[in-house]
Amino acid sequence: MFSFTPIDISRKLLAWYGRAGRDLPWRRTRDPYRIWLSEVMLQQTGVETVIPYYERFLEAFPTVRALAAATAEEVVERWAGLGYYSRARNLHAAAQRVVNFNAGHFPDTLEGLMELPGVGRSTAGAILSIAFDRPGPILDGNVRRVLCRLHALKEDPRSGSGEKKLWAWAAELTPIDRPHDYAQAIMDLGATVCTPRSPECGDCPLQTCCRARSLGLEEELPLRSGGKKAPTRVQVALLLFSQGRCMVRRRPLSGMLGGLWEFPSAAVSEGETPGMAASRLLKNLGLASEPRPAGEIAHIYSHFRLDLRLYRAEAEQMFKVAEGEESRWLLPAELVAWPLHGAHKKAVKHL
Ligand code: ADE
Repeated sequence: MFSFTPIDISRKLLAWYGRAGRDLPWRRTRDPYRIWLSEVMLQQTGVETVIPYYERFLEAFPTVRALAAATAEEVVERWAGLGYYSRARNLHAAAQRVVNFNAGHFPDTLEGLMELPGVGRSTAGAILSIAFDRPGPILDGNVRRVLCRLHALKEDPRSGSGEKKLWAWAAELTPIDRPHDYAQAIMDLGATVCTPRSPECGDCPLQTCCRARSLGLEEELPLRSGGKKAPTRVQVALLLFSQGRCMVRRRPLSGMLGGLWEFPSAAVSEGETPGMAASRLLKNLGLASEPRPAGEIAHIYSHFRLDLRLYRAEAEQMFKVAEGEESRWLLPAELVAWPLHGAHKKAVKHL
């Protein structure tokens, strides 16, 4: 690596972190529970979005024991809107494992951490470094980009050989000294300076060691893998009102978005228009009123894009559709804070 050793590089990073590192809520603790929670929330979600969820989640479940004792529904409701809900289910299962099989103590080895549901190699490295100050290599999205540029990796970073090189570079850069600070430093560099578009190379502590920069390739790297575009699915959702209240239902706990709430919805089948699907949905609820278009929402999931058409309708008699554990009639003001999943949270603005 040029004339710079891994230690030169980690020292530059640590010095920069001392000046420019961010003050984030999970950096004010060494509690492995809180650090694990932050790393899981940050797996697919940015810092700004995570902060309020992190704080609210800890108010509800301040310890791993409190989390383990909660129901799956309670946990998923606190996660509502953060997306990638398997993270919430894994979190709950991992908390129960830590409490039931490890007396409430988090494992403090890479292998032990990786046995927890939802903790992969990179998250385990981050927890080991940040909570226990032991060196654990990290290769999350931010670190990946930094390393691709630092070494000017000119192959698909997601290919087998790309992955192997990246993990080897991640391991050689992780210092024995101050792994806690180093982990945060390299993630912050990726998040704030070595950004996907228009990186701020002039502010970068590694600008003199970066191969991509010296080759003028910082905007081109990392190479994007030529993945297929996700398909689009069209669905309708019903904003069904009765005396100023709107109906929501809970999705079954098993399956996609399990345990979260939504407006009654259905897929638009082939040969059907969204209006026809909305009428069918109303009929299935035992209602004959006319649905009227009320807006459109676009939402992106990991494997498809959702094109959600909203329809408004009235139920002639209040609560003709029964209220129970799994369905409620709520005022628009109550819906703002209700644990709806992301796409349907967006629909609240259209009420
Ligand atoms: N992304 C993943 N882990 C992070 C952390 N601890 N701080 C900031 N961004 C992160």
